[in-house]
Amino acid sequence: MNNTPESLTETRGGPDAGRMRIRRVGRVHGSVRVPGDKSISHRSLILGGLASGQTVVTGFLPSDDCLRTLSAFSSLGVQISQTDPSSVHLDSPGFTGLAEPDSILDFGNSGTASRLMCGVLAGSSFFTVMTGDDSLRKRPMKRVVEPLSSMGAKIDGAGAGSRLPLAIRGNPLKGIYFFNAHKSAQVKSSILLAGLNAEGPTTVEEPVQTRDHTERLLPLFGGKVTRENLRTTVHPSRLTGTRLHVPGDFSSAAFFLALGLLTPSSSLTLEDVGLNPTRTGLLRVLDAMKARTLRVIPSNPLTGESEPCGNIHVGFSELEGIDVPPEWIPNIIDEIPILAACAACARGTTTIRGASELRVKESDRIRGIALALQVLGVPCEEFPDGLSIKGLGPEPRLKGGTVDSLNDHRIAMAMAVLGSRLPEGESLIIRGTDFVSTSFPGFTELFNQVVEC
Ligand code: S3P
Repeated sequence: MNNTPESLTETRGGPDAGRMRIRRVGRVHGSVRVPGDKSISHRSLILGGLASGQTVVTGFLPSDDCLRTLSAFSSLGVQISQTDPSSVHLDSPGFTGLAEPDSILDFGNSGTASRLMCGVLAGSSFFTVMTGDDSLRKRPMKRVVEPLSSMGAKIDGAGAGSRLPLAIRGNPLKGIYFFNAHKSAQVKSSILLAGLNAEGPTTVEEPVQTRDHTERLLPLFGGKVTRENLRTTVHPSRLTGTRLHVPGDFSSAAFFLALGLLTPSSSLTLEDVGLNPTRTGLLRVLDAMKARTLRVIPSNPLTGESEPCGNIHVGFSELEGIDVPPEWIPNIIDEIPILAACAACARGTTTIRGASELRVKESDRIRGIALALQVLGVPCEEFPDGLSIKGLGPEPRLKGGTVDSLNDHRIAMAMAVLGSRLPEGESLIIRGTDFVSTSFPGFTELFNQVVEC
């Protein structure tokens, strides 16, 4: 495909942590596979690190976030090698054979790694200290520290144990019943992972179904899990290594779905995308917005245990604004920045409420989206728990300029997609784009591969 000059250019590093420049895209077509699922990649390493023997993970996401989990398990004494960036081989002595690390575990930007590893380390027989980057050190940790403490964990840290750095003195744990009021899969998974090595069963109940990768993957490693409606119970289990394949990340595919939907005369296929129903809520939202060109072709049966995946085909579609039902939010929690980009190009207003969790993600995403949309000339109202976006229609008269991603990968990629709809001659500079590699290494290259100017 003729890609010169490229629509999306990127400078990496430097005082502003990288920049992207995007200008109008003429056409979008092709067939691509986005990198592996971030949530499943973290969990594959964690379960493989806790399991005795060998685990082989293919389709692994070699992003900055997942490599933090990988290096944490190396520090805990697990032998890990990568035959290529997306194939990982772990050889572990199992949970009871893990060793006290020599130094502090640094989880960088990764909320998932830090929260899930709290649950793992709470029941260990040694001492660990964990920290993270400027963003992660501001994010709430009490949501895992409190329930883990009620299981017997000994955890202290900044802000009276509510933020990183955290010091964890491994201690024997006992199973609990826990209600997951934050509707957080990270919190649920942290408690379930702690429950693997606790005395007696551990039950987590949730008000709505959050992503269920931990529950689906555990049985592959011999973990004992029972599920009954919105209650998940783990029983103390000794895990054994296995082989598993990580499908493409639906949350990464979402940027390309939107690019295809918003660009006239597009035809794009996304291959081997994870279709776990707890992750694909955006398809339901887009359907309600009258996206008539999305075709999902599952490649394995949508059963409860394994991770379903398949291809998604997308073409241009005129969208209509909707009120997103608040109960849909947990299943689109990572897709709201790209949903905002779609809403900006829809006819009518899109309202997103019940999403206050967005304020404590990698950035305050409600603020970040509202500020960026203002620069682009999209009318937007900010609420404590969401946004209302007045769409400019399928040929939006957007304005060029400079937006700040707040060092948030998903805001950066969403603005790159929206910037591709700028009028001819305009361009958008996005600041803070080095963080795109926390979830989507190679985003710029893949973007330029499917677009024509
Ligand atoms: C994740 C759960 C979600 C999501 C995050 C990954 C996971 O966070 O936003 O990107 O892998 O469990 P919460 O569970 O805190 O909402």
